[in-house]
Amino acid sequence: MKKIRKAVFPVAGLGTRFLPATKASPKEMLPIVDKPLIQYAAEEAVAAGINQLIFVTSGSKRAIEDHFDKNQELEDELERRKKMDLLDMVKYIVPKGVSCIYIRQREALGLGHAVLCAKPIVGDEPFAVILADDLIDGKEQSCLSQMVKVYEQQECSVIAVEEVEQSDTDRYGIITPELLYEGVLKMKSIVEKPKPNRAPSTLAVVGRYLLTSSIFDHLERTEKGAGGEIQLTDAIAKLLLEEQVLACQFKGIRYDCGNKLGYLLATINYALQHPNLREAFKEHLVKVCNQHI
Ligand code: UTP
Repeated sequence: MKKIRKAVFPVAGLGTRFLPATKASPKEMLPIVDKPLIQYAAEEAVAAGINQLIFVTSGSKRAIEDHFDKNQELEDELERRKKMDLLDMVKYIVPKGVSCIYIRQREALGLGHAVLCAKPIVGDEPFAVILADDLIDGKEQSCLSQMVKVYEQQECSVIAVEEVEQSDTDRYGIITPELLYEGVLKMKSIVEKPKPNRAPSTLAVVGRYLLTSSIFDHLERTEKGAGGEIQLTDAIAKLLLEEQVLACQFKGIRYDCGNKLGYLLATINYALQHPNLREAFKEHLVKVCNQHI
């Protein structure tokens, strides 16, 4: 069995739902408490055993490259001030043995196209795709680690899904499931953004995928779909006609940080878990809620 060693982070989207914040800086650099979304995503990948981080970027995303690069001036200054904890924190944002690779998507032609841009680096290995704006608090085990476990048992593509409101199906890829065992479903079909009355279920694909490299052949043949973009969902729909594709109903809470409300909820929940902030933040939150109710 081929191990999953590579993760693709498509970060070339325009982030229009978060304008003007995303006009000059990437939405993946928005912080939840003190860490940018993209760092949470990278840490999740590394914790799942991945050692090659492949970022599909665009012209306005340089801050992501800088974030994972060495900043000698900052390190020297922190050392001079004897701030050793902070020094270690910035020095090992990319842990030893992990490498970062950047590739440009020259036009925002959709998520499927962004994944295809990574083909020359991924080659014929199975790989992960992580959408950093879906922040998943996996509690005991990260979402990606739960998926890798399923991959190691079944050796096929595995996609993260969760239940959504019927009225929200037109915001997601929706699957037709068949129960395999607890938490793991066979994907019989998948459709991008179906209207609520047309959706085959309320199980929606969220931003974590483990894919076999055959997905690239399908992406190469995929025409523009919903929204005039090359959709990853359409390629997965073809893939599952040829190979088993499983859906993993992960344990954990997902925050859609690509929209403002999801981002705010994530901030509140992560702040309430932060050891140095928790108490003061809770106190303030209660006060504010009382004032507004
Ligand atoms: P979204 O649907 O969230 O689009 O893309 P977006 O452009 O980032 O944000 P909005 O909807 O305009 O606010 C899902 C993921 O696919 C990436 C995005 O960066 C995000 O991680 N993506 C999307 C690309 O890398 N390239 C694309 O052409 C489109």
